Order: sequence, then structure tokens, then C-alpha cells
Amino acid sequence: MEKIFVHSYKGGTGKTTVAVNLASILAHKQKVLLIENDFSMPSLFNIFRSEPEIYFNDYLNENVEFNETIMSDIGPNLDVIFANKNFNPMEKIMGSDQEWFLDLLGRMLKDLKALEKVYKYVIFDSPPGWHMNLVNLITLSNKAILILRPNSYEVNGTMRLLEILYKRAKPRLGLDVYLVFNQVPEVDMVKDLEQWADDFHKDGIKYAGHISCSCTTSYEMAHGTTIFNSDHIFTQSLQKIISVVTSS
Ligand SMILES: Nc1ncnc2c1ncn2[C@@H]1O[C@H](COP(=O)(O)OP(=O)(O)OP(=O)(O)O)[C@@H](O)[C@H]1O
Ligand SMILES: [Mg+2]
Repeated sequence: MEKIFVHSYKGGTGKTTVAVNLASILAHKQKVLLIENDFSMPSLFNIFRSEPEIYFNDYLNENVEFNETIMSDIGPNLDVIFANKNFNPMEKIMGSDQEWFLDLLGRMLKDLKALEKVYKYVIFDSPPGWHMNLVNLITLSNKAILILRPNSYEVNGTMRLLEILYKRAKPRLGLDVYLVFNQVPEVDMVKDLEQWADDFHKDGIKYAGHISCSCTTSYEMAHGTTIFNSDHIFTQSLQKIISVVTSS
């Protein structure tokens, strides 16, 4: 079982869009569990138009077992664990201390291990930036996809995130970290992307590819489409990224 989390330094880079499409593409061939690990801004209920009765938050609060939070067959081969969109449950989790997160890590390691034979992929969507939650994801997962938009501000921020966190954890945990530029303007940025990718490569971060910023994509998303067809430009770019991420 591969455990992949999608993360970024800044908000709004496209983590949720990538996580959801990644999960549905992978589910064409194998069984996938998508976990909404973003408690501050849950959005999967909206994307999948689901109103689950049990949320990931209920497991975090030790009210239910992990398996009870899994909503089966949300898509073909695709199971989803949703986060609660109400303010009170999410506020409690975001305010928890380190001890609580370490305890949670122990429970999740055990519960995910029990599902090793059920799922080929577990995909985590996550909130931006640094949080104790992220330490858990880094420890639980074997791959990370870091999404950033192509500007020096986000490149520098992502470098900083690598410095303070990923580079320390990576050698010990054997985490593979992949870089994806999203919302790349439709002008020639090949040289810029290559230069930045080279800089990240020096730190052992693999460049997995880029996704163009497309007005069609924005328009469709504005009208409620988040999971794209196989011939969509977003899906085609993501297919190339998936082949890099899943090849090692
Ligand atoms: N390739 C793209 N082309 C055009 N628009 C895009 C693209 N990728 C993402 N977007 C736009 O970016 C917005 C943010 O995407 P998304 O919610 O996936 O980001 P996020 O990183 O999960 O945000 P947050 O940090 O708030 O959780 C979407 O509404 C969408 O319009
Ligand atoms: Mg998101």
C-alpha cells in the first residue's frame, strides 16, 4: 500500500484538486482510499456532494473506529473519509497539543496497517503550511507531492519548508518528495521551471511535472466540476505526474 500526501507552503495552490483527481485516476485500476486531512477547510463533502453521518473527526475524538469513518464506493474503486465542515469539531482538533497528535499518530499507524491488503493507495489531502498534523502525515506516508505556483515567493517558501521540516525527516523515514508546479501561465516558462526544478533537485526533491493554469479549468471549477474527464488538460498533465510518482 502506497501512502501519498499532497501538500503546499501556501494555500490555494491546487492541493485538493490534485488529491481528488489523483485518487480518481488511480482508482481506474486499483482500490483507493482518499482521506480529507484538512480540518480547517473541508471541501470533499462539496466535491462529492456527500452528507456523511460519520466523519474523520469522530475517529480523531475517539468516538468511532477508523473503519466506521470510511464511506465506501463514493466512486468506482474509491472510498473516502470526510472531514466535518462544522466549525466546533474542527476548532477542537486544530487546537490540540503535541501529545494528542503523537497519540493520534500511533492509532493511525496501527489502523492503516490493518488496511494494507485492502487498498493499493491511500491519498491524503492536507492543509497548507506547517502544523503538527503535517508531522503525522510525513511519518505515516511514503510519498509527498508538494504543489506550488511558479513564482519566487512560493519557491522560496517551499524551500524554507523543506529546510525546517522535510529535509530533517526525509533521510530517516525514506520519504520520497515530488515537486509539481500548478497554475503555470500559458507563456513560455520552461527555462524558469527547469531552473527551479534543478534547485530543488539539489535537495533530493524529484520534479514530477507541471499543470497549466487554464481558464477552462477555472471556469469549470467555478461551475462545480472538480473531477475532470480523461481527455481534460488537467487529467492529461496529472497522468504524466502520476507516472513519475508511481514509477519508483
Ligand atoms: N490548473 C489550474 N488551472 C486553473 N485554475 C486552477 C488550477 N488548479 C487549481 N485552480 C484553481 O485554484 C483554486 C484552488 O484550488 P484548490 O482548492 O484545489 O487549492 P488548495 O491548495 O486545496 O487550497 P487550500 O489551501 O485552501 O486547501 C480552485 O478554485 C481553482 O479555481
Ligand atoms: Mg484544499
